[in-house]
Amino acid sequence: MNILSINGSPNKEGNTQNIVSAILKGTETNHHKSKTIHLYDLKINDCVACKNSHKIHLEKDCIHNDDFTNLLLPEIRNADLIIFGSPVYMGHITGKAKTMFDRFYTFILENFTIRDLENKKFISVVTSGAPSETFKDVSDYLEKWLGDFFFKMEKIKIIHEGDFLGESGQCDKPELLKKYENFGKTI
Ligand SMILES: Cc1cc2nc3c(=O)[nH]c(=O)nc-3n(C[C@H](O)[C@H](O)[C@H](O)COP(=O)(O)O)c2cc1C
Repeated sequence: MNILSINGSPNKEGNTQNIVSAILKGTETNHHKSKTIHLYDLKINDCVACKNSHKIHLEKDCIHNDDFTNLLLPEIRNADLIIFGSPVYMGHITGKAKTMFDRFYTFILENFTIRDLENKKFISVVTSGAPSETFKDVSDYLEKWLGDFFFKMEKIKIIHEGDFLGESGQCDKPELLKKYENFGKTI
C-alpha cells in the first residue's frame, strides 16, 4: 500500500507529525511504502472560485499552476491511504491545511460526484494544547468532509490528542508514541 502523510503543521518534528511518524514506523512492519509531505514547504494558492471551474478541472485539474496542482495532486492520486495531520490553530486546522482542502474542489464534479478519492482510505491526526474534547469539532470536521458526508474516503481512524502544553515536539508521553506505533502495525 502507498501511504501519503500530509503534515499541516509548520513543525516538521512537532506534536502532530511525531504521532504520524510513530504510525508510519509501525506500518513498516507490513512493508508499506510511505511518503511525507510538509504543507509548509509548498506554495499553495487560495482557491479563487474560478468561472467554469468544473470544465477547467477536467481539462487541467486547476487554474493554478502551483505546488498543489503539480506536486500534491499526483501524490494524492497515487496514495492508497492518506494521513492528514494538523494541530489546532485558533480553534481549527491550520490555515495552510484549510487552503489545501479548499483546493480539493478539483475532486468535485459538476453533479457533486467525487473523482479520484473515493477508493482511498484516510486517517486524521489532530493535536491541541487544550484537552481533546475541547476541540473535538476539529476532528469531527475532518471526519465529516473526508468521510461519509462528502469525499467518501474510507475512514480508518480519527485521532485527536490534546494537552500538548509544552514546546512543540517535546512529547513527554512516550507511551503515546508507542501506542500509535502499535496501531501502525495493524495497518
Ligand atoms: C498559532 C497557534 C495557535 C494555537 N491555537 C490553539 C487553539 O486554538 N487551541 C488549542 O488547544 N491549542 C492551540 N495551539 C496549540 C497547538 O495546537 C498544540 O501545541 C499542537 O500540539 C501543536 O502541534 P505541532 O507541534 O504539530 O505544531 C496553538 C498553537 C499555535 C502556535
